[in-house]
Parts: sequence; structure tokens; C-alpha cells
Amino acid sequence: MAYQNIETLSWIGDQHGWLRMIDQTLLPAELCEIDCRHTETVWEAIKKLRVRGAPAIGIAAAYGVCIGLQTLPSNVDLVTFQTRLNEVVDYLASSRPTAVNLFWALNRMKAKAESLYDLKDVAEINEDLFSEAKAIHEEDRRICRSIGKFGQELLRDGDTFLTHCNAGGLATADYGTALAVFFAATEMGKTVKVYADETRPLLQGSRLTAWELMQRGIDVTLICDSMAAMVMKQGKINGVVVGADRIAANGDTANKIGTYSVAISAKTHKIPFYVAAPVSTFDLTLTDGNGIPIEERDSEEICCGFGKRTAPQGVHVYNPAFDVTPAEFITGIITEHGVISPVNRENIAKIVGA
Ligand code: MRU
Repeated sequence: MAYQNIETLSWIGDQHGWLRMIDQTLLPAELCEIDCRHTETVWEAIKKLRVRGAPAIGIAAAYGVCIGLQTLPSNVDLVTFQTRLNEVVDYLASSRPTAVNLFWALNRMKAKAESLYDLKDVAEINEDLFSEAKAIHEEDRRICRSIGKFGQELLRDGDTFLTHCNAGGLATADYGTALAVFFAATEMGKTVKVYADETRPLLQGSRLTAWELMQRGIDVTLICDSMAAMVMKQGKINGVVVGADRIAANGDTANKIGTYSVAISAKTHKIPFYVAAPVSTFDLTLTDGNGIPIEERDSEEICCGFGKRTAPQGVHVYNPAFDVTPAEFITGIITEHGVISPVNRENIAKIVGA
């Protein structure tokens, strides 16, 4: 399969343009893009996981702010502008609760505007906000490359790693976080094999990770989530690397539901377990993972996934979309500034809190 250089997110046109994104709910059957010209469309795309993965959600939200401000007349007064900005930021922030990159990007956009209120007129502030959204997008590309560079050093030629969910190019501006480690190792000439958990209930592992790895010519084997412990016991796995949605100040890490079970299995089998994430995924306001808000999603995702009923109507369902892996299960956190290991408050503060 030939690798196509696909853009997860792209901005079309000038400041008055719109956001284009791959509709990830259709993959791998269809590679289709949708255009978002209204804040509501961006909100819906985040909520419904058309765009998903912590960094990608942040980028989409930053552009969503620009789209939300396009509804204002060009001669709008500053107070009306501020009111609309706050309204758009609050609205986009209500789309999904767990990935902190969403709030990080929205706060960055808001802080940018606030720094300019006394210095520039509304038209200039709008221009600077558009530049800020583009900067968030571009920075993420560089961050992913840097994570790949540091992460690949942890892989030996011939290693087989396991990953859970999708922390690839589809979840970021390009190249990914966890998957960046495999891409960079391959570019360094190492041979890498990957086991991808399918990632129930929405199958980001089988629909997205397996697809991305195959696109890039990386040897990937798909397994059901329940098989991870077994393949570790069989000695097939040298290491695990996953992404993250929010990392507390002590290193407790929220990621896709099932990650915690993978970490427990890895520890049991003495297999290193790495998290790959940009600094924007750390939430140093939280002392530990107990404070991380965990999104609960619709029961239909479990009972009627992809339109096929697989559970009786009316059954009680619990559907948390993320879990928290305690820091003591994590061998290292791969960031754009280097690898944090051992994972503890002091080492995190040194790299993230500076
Ligand atoms: O519900 P999703 O698909 O948005 O969950 C995504 C994950 O859990 C990823 O592992 C995480 O956001 C890191 S993406 C670089």
C-alpha cells in the first residue's frame, strides 16, 4: 500500500477561509474530508470523533475560534468582540472533557486576544488570532518529530512494540506521538514490528492505527484488546508505547480506556511501558490522576457499534472513554524536550514546569 501524505487538518484560504479535516469516523473504508465553516460543525466534529486524539482536537478548536469570530461584522466594537470570543471558547470547551490539549489551545487563543486588547484594533486582533491558530498547528508538526526523535532511541532494531488506540498522524498535525516513535525508528533504519490493540468500543486501533502503520509500510499485527496480556506472556512484546490525553503533575496519565489494563499486564511481564505526549498534554494544576475528568460516552457505542446491535435493548451500560494509568506503571514519558524517567513529580517539573 503506497503511503499518501494526508493532512488530518488543513485550513483552506485566508483568515476568512474554513477548516478541512479527514472524517475519521469513516476510516478505513472511506478517506473523506469534511469542511467546517461554522463553530457548530467544529464542535460536532470533535464530539463525534470525526477529529480525535488530544493534539488534533486542540488544533481544531484553535481554528474553531477563528471560525466563530467570522460571524462578527468587520466594524464590531471591542466589547462585542470579547463577548463573542468568550462565548465561542466556552462552547468549544464543552465538546469533550478529558483531553487537556483542547483547553490548552482555547486558553492560548484567549490569552493571545487578551494580550492585545489595549494595543490593537479588532481587525488586527482577528489577524493575530488566525496566526496563533496556524502557529499551534505548525508547532505540533515539529513537536511530533521531536517526540519521534527521542522515542526511537528506546527501540532496538528488531523490537516488537504494542500500542493502544491511535496516537498517530491522525491524532496530531502529522506524524503522531506514540506512532512517531515507530516512524522515526524506521527512518533510522531499524526494523520494528507493532501489535495494535483494536481498542473497543470505537476501534481506533484497528480502524486508524492499523491503517496508518500499513500506509507507512510498518509491519502491524492487529489483536483484540483482550489478547494483549497473552501476547506479552508469549514473549512477543519488547515494549509498549501509547499516547495520552491528560497527564497530572505526578505522572498519572489518562489515555484511551484499556490503557490501564495494558500497563498492568506490561508491569506483570516486566515489559517497559512508555507514554508519548507533548508538554501541552500535562495538566500541572492536578496533583494526581484522581482529578482528571473522564468522559462517559453514549451506551450505543457499546451496544450498537457501527450499526450492529450486539447487546439487548435496555441493558445497563457503563462507557468511560478513558482510564488513568498510575505513574508507577510508566517507565518513561517521551516529550518533545526529552524522556522523563523515572516518572515522578520532580522530573516532570524539570521538563514541563520550567
Ligand atoms: O477518544 P479518542 O480517539 O480521542 O482518544 C484518543 C486517545 O486516547 C489517544 O491515545 C490520545 O488522545 C493521544 S493522541 C496523540
